[in-house]
Amino acid sequence: MQQTRTRAASQTKFLLDESQLPRRWYNIRSDMPTALQPVLHPGTGEPIGPDDLAPLFPMELIGQEVSEDAEIAIPDEVLEIYSLWRPTPLFRASRLEEAIGTRSRIFYKYEGVSPPGSHKPNTAVPQAFYNKKEGRTRLSTETGAGQWGSALAFACRLIGLECKVYMVKISYEQKPNRRSMIQTWGAEIVASPSEDTQCGRAILEEHPDSPGSLGIAISEAVEDAAGRDDTAYSLGSVLNHVLLHQTVIGQEALVQMELAGAFPDVVIGCVGGGSNFAGLAFPFLREKIAGRDIDVLACEPEACPTLTRGLFAYDFGDTSKLTPLVAMHTLGHDFVPAPIHAGGLRYHGVAPLISQLVLDGLIRAEAYLQNDVFASAVLFAGTEGILPAPEAAHAIHGTLRVAKAADEAGEERTILFNLSGHGHFDMGAYDRYFAGKLEDVALDEDEMERALRAIEGLPTPA
Ligand SMILES: Cc1ncc(COP(=O)(O)O)c(C=O)c1O
Repeated sequence: MQQTRTRAASQTKFLLDESQLPRRWYNIRSDMPTALQPVLHPGTGEPIGPDDLAPLFPMELIGQEVSEDAEIAIPDEVLEIYSLWRPTPLFRASRLEEAIGTRSRIFYKYEGVSPPGSHKPNTAVPQAFYNKKEGRTRLSTETGAGQWGSALAFACRLIGLECKVYMVKISYEQKPNRRSMIQTWGAEIVASPSEDTQCGRAILEEHPDSPGSLGIAISEAVEDAAGRDDTAYSLGSVLNHVLLHQTVIGQEALVQMELAGAFPDVVIGCVGGGSNFAGLAFPFLREKIAGRDIDVLACEPEACPTLTRGLFAYDFGDTSKLTPLVAMHTLGHDFVPAPIHAGGLRYHGVAPLISQLVLDGLIRAEAYLQNDVFASAVLFAGTEGILPAPEAAHAIHGTLRVAKAADEAGEERTILFNLSGHGHFDMGAYDRYFAGKLEDVALDEDEMERALRAIEGLPTPA
């Protein structure tokens, strides 16, 4: 009774009015202590210019990719579509706190309220908008878990573009409902590796049973876009402009934490390519760079431990070496992660912005096994009610570890994490977890050594 009264007295949701939607994206490049390494041409090894990227991206996005302006205005048309689900709620996880008996306060920003169910439309919408504005009529893309493919299909439908999605085969098979969702929004979808591209056919010839990977699907989508004038390529993570668009998350959260009368000691997110993590963390890192003490934690799977065990090196963003070379933490471009259920975290690289911030000691990273992550997801669902996406559950697991460590040290922290999406289309993974059939895979040292041989001979970062 006492506990119920205490909980009722404290506020659960911190909501913003539509008029409080951020009007600008925040560009962390303007505040970074170390400049990014240049992006290199895959053929010449020389730094690339805007013209090299023009066959794949509209000029406005290329401009954002290289911009050092602190803030970039969000077009009204984008704000109007954002208002369908933004601002998103920020919750105090009082029931979770109570269940684990922590002295710490836990908050989470919930991005699963968007129509496709994750943070991904925060960048899908502006990407579709700028492409349409500059005359493209069709976009090609890859998707891992299906969240990004859904988000781009949704954005293209609302803005009026055709869309082709190459979906990593293992997810295509595990998640038929994501496929249907993508088709409902009018996009064409195919399992990757596919027969539709040269690189897909080459991979199938060598590995007919390939489960696919984000690296392979990116190759297919890039080849598709490079071969057609009407088509641009759209990437759901990793690139500077994608992370930029996601910063609406953290900007809203800063205001919402103020409403809650709190400021986080710890900010946590899961990392695949890095976009949801950056979206929440970058506006807080702005505060950290300005002198505030914040622990910023990136959570990844042991099966694909890019930040915790990868090398900081120049590498391709895709398996078939079609993309420019970027300096990032990588496990090697031909690394195919084990088919864990957090499909969106199965990527060999990570955003160069995040890599550099890790090197500069502003972000730290941890890696977890999937059964531990699912146990945390089930605890969260049983207390807060929301069924998390397996990717987002990595952030929940990281949060529980931080809270436990604080309790053991007799400390009280304020923790904020990003719940990047719901798991309504991931129930197959939950079924396997409940049946005890989820395999714990930590990346094997020999396989890591093998995969890293793929980057031997590539330029090294200065
Ligand atoms: C719900 C969810 N969270 C996180 C991710 C990982 O991507 P990123 O690191 O770009 O946020 C994905 C990718 O598909 C996702 O669907």
